[in-house]
Amino acid sequence: MTIKNNTLIKGTYFPPGDKSISHRILILSSQAVGKSEISNLLEGEDVLNTLKAMRILGANISKKNKKYVVFGIPPGGLFQPNKPIDFGNSGTGIRLICGLIASNNIKAKLVGDGSLSKRPMKRVTVHLKKIGALINLKKDSYPPIKIQGDGEALPLKYNIMIPSAQIKSAIMLSALNTKGLIEIKEFKTTRDHTENMLKAMGYNIKVKEDNKYRYIKMINDKDLNSLNYNVPGDPSSAAFFITAACLKPGSKLIIKNMLFNKTRTGFISTLKKMGAKIKILKKKRVNFELVADLKIEQKKYLKPIILEAKDIPLQVDEIPILSIAASFAEGKSIFKGLKELTVKESNRLLLIHQNLKKMGVNSEIKGFDLHIYGSNNLKKGGANIVHHNDHRIVMSFYLANLICVKNNKIKDKSCVKTSYPSFFHHILKYSH
Ligand code: S3P
Repeated sequence: MTIKNNTLIKGTYFPPGDKSISHRILILSSQAVGKSEISNLLEGEDVLNTLKAMRILGANISKKNKKYVVFGIPPGGLFQPNKPIDFGNSGTGIRLICGLIASNNIKAKLVGDGSLSKRPMKRVTVHLKKIGALINLKKDSYPPIKIQGDGEALPLKYNIMIPSAQIKSAIMLSALNTKGLIEIKEFKTTRDHTENMLKAMGYNIKVKEDNKYRYIKMINDKDLNSLNYNVPGDPSSAAFFITAACLKPGSKLIIKNMLFNKTRTGFISTLKKMGAKIKILKKKRVNFELVADLKIEQKKYLKPIILEAKDIPLQVDEIPILSIAASFAEGKSIFKGLKELTVKESNRLLLIHQNLKKMGVNSEIKGFDLHIYGSNNLKKGGANIVHHNDHRIVMSFYLANLICVKNNKIKDKSCVKTSYPSFFHHILKYSH
């Protein structure tokens, strides 16, 4: 099946389980004594690597009738691994579990694939070293991470300057086995699933926000309660089909059971500002997370948009697909402050720019801002897409065929398995 420029997106769509929540529920239920049951876990490679890691570290995890059953071990009780732990492509997996290990008296070597081995880890380890963990990185920056955790970790105050939920969550996980008060100050709001899940598990955590900062306080004086958790649909995966539906007038899509956390739905606000017709049909709160059903009925072309740097953390993973939307909107769009995109699974800022150019869209990088000169005309396409095995680049430029005369060529699309194994099956199902 190839998508063409006369394809429309239609149907009732259930996005796969949320990746960020899937990692976290595996890690946190593994630290809760008793039985937890997880349904709709994302079975992407990234999450399955986290599952294997938690088994190596002592959790008992099995699958029964589509549900995962977890029997955890208490904080501080992680097992000594007898081999390196492989996180594959997953920055979330390696960074979060590095945080967890940092306050356990065990020694571990954390490794990853070629892409992960080039991603910066110091942003996390700089904090974890301060609590007492001994950590060694390749070239003082990259995986493998060799870590000796400290079972008597120091409770500290942290300022998180880089907008990253992975840094914040690594620190929060280290706090699970740290005595005393841990205080975290975030300079920009990032996804807050670790906070919400800890609340759902009865942990002693307080979160406050003013117009400048977010503050988190944690004390480990209460056990984590085991729980049953149904993972809501992933907005970052749904974003591909939602954006595709919005940029092709005539499309009509109902989206069911999608995570509707405001730290994740920045792209919905962006698309609405661009003229997308997206309606919320139903909203509910489960386990401290909002979940919603949506409806898209698009009649007109999208308009260009200017995105400010402060809004990027709330849609950091959706910039590649939004760049396709901007390409098909008449006029200039600017996405400001994309520095964090340069250290994702690939340098996404550069790859977006290069691939847009190859398929016939003018764009410029100015500092860390991306300027896209869009129009409602079809692009020439036929480009050899360079993706460096980055799943979101592959999926975005596959959908770019919706706005191209000639289909683009993408060699080896297997990396979509890291976050969205059913992507091509869903393409078959929802393109008409
Ligand atoms: C994630 C946080 C984000 C995001 C990634 C998942 C998480 O990374 O890009 O896909 O689950 O915490 P950063 O925290 O590094 O921005």
